[in-house]
Amino acid sequence: MASTKKLRGQVAIVTGADSGIGKAVAIALGAAGAAVIVNHIHGDEAADKVVAEIKSAGGRAYAFHADVSNEQDVQAMFAFTIKKYKTVDILINNAGLQKDAALVDMTLDEWNTVIKTNLTGQFLCAREAAKEFIRRGVVKSRSTAAGKIICMSSVHEVIPWAGHVNYAASKGGVELFMKSIAQELAPHGIRVVSIAPGAIQTPINREAWETPQALNKLLKLIPYNRIGRPEDIGKLAVWLASDEADYITGTTIFIDGGMTLYPGFADNG
Ligand code: NAI
Ligand code: BGC
Repeated sequence: MASTKKLRGQVAIVTGADSGIGKAVAIALGAAGAAVIVNHIHGDEAADKVVAEIKSAGGRAYAFHADVSNEQDVQAMFAFTIKKYKTVDILINNAGLQKDAALVDMTLDEWNTVIKTNLTGQFLCAREAAKEFIRRGVVKSRSTAAGKIICMSSVHEVIPWAGHVNYAASKGGVELFMKSIAQELAPHGIRVVSIAPGAIQTPINREAWETPQALNKLLKLIPYNRIGRPEDIGKLAVWLASDEADYITGTTIFIDGGMTLYPGFADNG
């Protein structure tokens, strides 16, 4: 019987894959048949566990330490991947962080750290991925596309967020970064899309869900009335990377339980 694995034989790099959404995406891609590079910046043990989980389900994976905001690190990660697996088919630009502060209290370091990780990191990784996708071109036995780049954005690419201006600016930047490179790379057969999650239960937003009071407050922003799970994003990433999504490029898929429906207007305005 032919394999039903959507990403069989493909190779994926997932940045920030030792935690939260990146971890779930790496595991889902591995289960869908892709060999996975589990990137991490400070989670050797956690990354090894993700690799072990992918392997125990019959998949292939390596952990790789790299800071996505460091050009040499990113180039080394792509060189390692190509050495191990000959090429790359899928980049999941997931690594990201928050350094929250009111505008008047925000330090330049807090601004720069968020922009260089969430935006410059996506540029550095996408550039290396695009070089390899263009070099290899379309190989029909792998995929109908020459490569796929999936950018982890956020509902905050459209929802302003007081107290998080560095983060919202980085995700707003990801929107036009994604669209501009999608336009540039489509003639090469490369698809570029963003995933914009709402509130997903991970360490990045622990304060928003760790007590019942905080979770109740958060749920007022989510018409579908549950917090998102990292696995919700894993399933979407597999589908977007697969040939089933072959005609999708240059757009953002929101996966947010309705957060961008502005629920405050349901009984107001
Ligand atoms: P997380 O904190 O669990 O994971 C973030 C990962 O990025 C960690 O593995 C961290 O070590 C890694 N990372 C940070 N800086 C890095 C660097 N310089 N180089 C390599 N890796 C680095 O948080 P979560 O929620 O899984 O976040 C993943 C992505 O999803 C981020 O881009 C975040 O902005 C985005 N997102 C998260 C949402 C949520 O509600 N959890 C909602 C919308 C977007
Ligand atoms: C942030 C989370 C937040 C979610 C919804 C994400 O981009 O990283 O902290 O819970 O957006 O506001």
